[in-house]
Amino acid sequence: MSNRNSKFDWSNPLATVETITINFEGESCVVPAGITVAAALLGHDDDHFCKSAAEGDKRAPYCLMGVCFECLVEIDGTKNRQACLEPVYEGMNVKRQYAVTDEKK
Ligand code: FES
Repeated sequence: MSNRNSKFDWSNPLATVETITINFEGESCVVPAGITVAAALLGHDDDHFCKSAAEGDKRAPYCLMGVCFECLVEIDGTKNRQACLEPVYEGMNVKRQYAVTDEKK
């Protein structure tokens, strides 16, 4: 299992940031403790979190405050979790969420 590189330097020696490890699509991601899943995944430069049910378009967080539902992911096997409202925790398993029609393909 590889450790994905973040586009942010979480290891800044001036910052006293506790980090934890989450899994996104089967890969380990070291992220600051206490941030949201959306912030953690955006920091890892992923281009989408889910696909729309209607058109299958890639979707990513927009409002970051629980209003738009563009950030839906699967967390520990539970779908339709809003990544912008869920705090990360050690060992959390996060997957992109695809529309039902995509899962049949
Ligand atoms: S980013 Fe809008 S609800 Fe999560």
